[in-house]
Amino acid sequence: MPLQITVLPASTQAGRETIRSLLAEGEPPLIQAVYRDVSKAPSEFTSHADFKAVKGDVSSGTGLDFSTSDAVFYIPPPTYDGTDSSEFGRNAANNVKAALETASGVKRIVLLSAMGAQNDKGVGILSINHVTDETLKTSAAEVVVVKPGFFMETWVSALDTAKADTPYFDSYITPDDHEIAVVSLDDIGKVCAQQLLDTGNSLPSSPYSVNLRGPRDYSALDVQSALQEVTGKKVKINAIKPDQLPAFFGQHVPAQYADELAEMTAACLPGGLIAKEMVQEEGVARGQIELVEVLRKAAESDLGRERSGAF
Ligand SMILES: NC(=O)c1ccc[n+]([C@@H]2O[C@H](COP(=O)([O-])OP(=O)(O)OC[C@H]3O[C@@H](n4cnc5c(N)ncnc54)[C@H](OP(=O)(O)O)[C@@H]3O)[C@@H](O)[C@H]2O)c1
Repeated sequence: MPLQITVLPASTQAGRETIRSLLAEGEPPLIQAVYRDVSKAPSEFTSHADFKAVKGDVSSGTGLDFSTSDAVFYIPPPTYDGTDSSEFGRNAANNVKAALETASGVKRIVLLSAMGAQNDKGVGILSINHVTDETLKTSAAEVVVVKPGFFMETWVSALDTAKADTPYFDSYITPDDHEIAVVSLDDIGKVCAQQLLDTGNSLPSSPYSVNLRGPRDYSALDVQSALQEVTGKKVKINAIKPDQLPAFFGQHVPAQYADELAEMTAACLPGGLIAKEMVQEEGVARGQIELVEVLRKAAESDLGRERSGAF
């Protein structure tokens, strides 16, 4: 029997990339993908015989049936609906835990976490990952916690301002030469897929942490040079100072979450809690994809959309 793997929520960025990697295997496992809205399952997946989309919600706990699963991949989603992040994360993790308790066949759970999530305070929105990792750390015989740096894809939106008449991008990494750990979703998907496929193979410990970063760390100057290479324009850095972070994130999310995003970001700046972790090399797995490749791919697919829109 092929391995059966449940991915939830499958609409998350890491969930999608991991499913893509699993389906690219020569002999893919059977994948049960949990969506709040199954119509969001992309056709590149639904056309595959080894893929099944099911309706489920980690907040309410409905539709979480792992009874035929050997392994489960859980990506704690963020919330912006006014609920306290820790409370939201704990409730969702408890729903996943309850579903695992009624599914005796699950040998391995892989959790998407983040660098810094072992801290119970001072890491802002990563409190969701902290409470999840704590809640689920003994919920299966094999527990793997994948802890990536920032997703490189965060900078895809910077292509918009980098292509403008006066090209610039907003940088919350200061000073300009301060490096932080980043990794592409492609690398994350490959590592998480491999951890799921390894179900049943013994781990050095359980829970077992995988600290995942890209081929090198990146500063705002490195991001600037990648944006310049892809756009062919001279791109200015608009540095967001640490005290401006809450107002900056407040343009995109409600104030409560803006403060959490600001705290997480500040923890990555010089002297911060996560910055101290980011200079340690021991036990770090390195991905292969550089930021310039991520940005080029995004720019090309945008161009594709613009072209198809024009006809
Ligand atoms: N972003 C980074 O740089 C980064 C770095 C390291 C670790 N992480 C971790 O990665 C995880 C994902 O973070 P993200 O910000 O990148 O989010 P994301 O992958 O974009 O996930 C958001 C998606 O989760 C789904 N979702 C939300 N609530 C749900 C619920 N109750 N039940 C089922 N699905 C639900 C939503 O899909 P639908 O609306 O389609 O249902 C939404 O599109 C977090 O744990 C985060 O800490 C992120």
